[in-house]
Amino acid sequence: LAIPHRRDVPFAKLTTLGVGGICRWLFEPVDEAQAQAFVRACAREGLPRRVLGGGSNLVVLGDVETPVVRLKFPPEVRREGLEVHAPASYGHIRLSGDTAAMGLSGMEYASGIPGSVGGALHMNAGAYGRETVDVLARFRFLTPEGDLVEKAPEPGEFRYRWSFLGEGRIALGLVVRLAEGDPVAIRARVEEYRQKRGTSQPLHKRNAGCVFKNPPGQSAGRLIDQAGLKGFRVGDAEVSPEHGNFLVNLGGASASDFRELMARVREKVLDGFGIELEPEVEIW
Ligand code: FAD
Ligand code: EPU
Repeated sequence: LAIPHRRDVPFAKLTTLGVGGICRWLFEPVDEAQAQAFVRACAREGLPRRVLGGGSNLVVLGDVETPVVRLKFPPEVRREGLEVHAPASYGHIRLSGDTAAMGLSGMEYASGIPGSVGGALHMNAGAYGRETVDVLARFRFLTPEGDLVEKAPEPGEFRYRWSFLGEGRIALGLVVRLAEGDPVAIRARVEEYRQKRGTSQPLHKRNAGCVFKNPPGQSAGRLIDQAGLKGFRVGDAEVSPEHGNFLVNLGGASASDFRELMARVREKVLDGFGIELEPEVEIW
């Protein structure tokens, strides 16, 4: 396949958490045609494959032999009235900043959510009461067979930290629909969120955001905190003393440290509160 690719890249370099083994095959298509050729070839050969974005919601537990595709489309956005088009490989925080600079309001919530636009779409990432689907006008994706679809979101396709893209689909890009806003008010909201995040989350240590989903009506972080787990460590994997739902890599953590720490946290919360925490991070 005439698609740029690299061999044997450590996941420490591909993820924000910085653990995991080696990515044996990393395909980096530079446009939609290359991405489509890759998916079609995998479908034809019956080969499994995985999609990587910014690696900010991933806990990789070992080597990955399955081909991994990471889109590397030209980083260009386009505004049409109140709509902004962005490729899936575009930075999510960057898109939030761009739209704010255009005087468009609606993506302030995303100003501190790292990773790619495609990853945000897949995870239906959100914060402060808003999530990706709230601003989503249309999106483009490849089906598992490699057919290209562009559509508006429909009920059932996006829920709290979940989307139907997980079922083998690859997001190629999206269009957000925003509102005309007052630049001063937009900047003030971004600054308010930045401060909130800075005081409650351990942004100076390697992490993958919140590790567990919030159970309905509960905060996983608060439950982990109330279970007395803040500061609990397995090797260099630690329950952040700042926020219970952030598990951080103090420097030399291994994948098995994280596997063990996640298991211990789930066990303690189950014993203490009878609540089964479900991972929010993707585990490879
Ligand atoms: P990755 O981690 O690369 O992948 C995550 C999943 O998305 C994988 O299953 C992958 O296969 C899939 N995926 C990636 N790209 C595509 C694509 N193009 N098509 C289909 N599937 C794809 N998340 C929140 O929701 N709210 C927050 O407030 C938040 N805060 C965070 C703060 C910090 C400091 C960090 C490190 C993370 C935080 N996160 C938060 C988690 C994470 O940033 C989001 O889930 C983000 O949207 C993941 O995007 P990514 O590109 O890094 O995805
Ligand atoms: N709390 C504690 N102890 C802790 C952590 C939190 O008591 O260790 C309390 C807080 O004081 C607050 C409540 O729990 O009263 C909720 O905490 P917070 O506002 O930090 O929100 P959260 O529910 O823990 C969610 C998302 C975050 C998102 C924030 C802000 C999930 C799993 N987490 O966190 O998203 O940034 O709200 O909107 O939905 C992510 O998905 O990766 C993520 C970081």
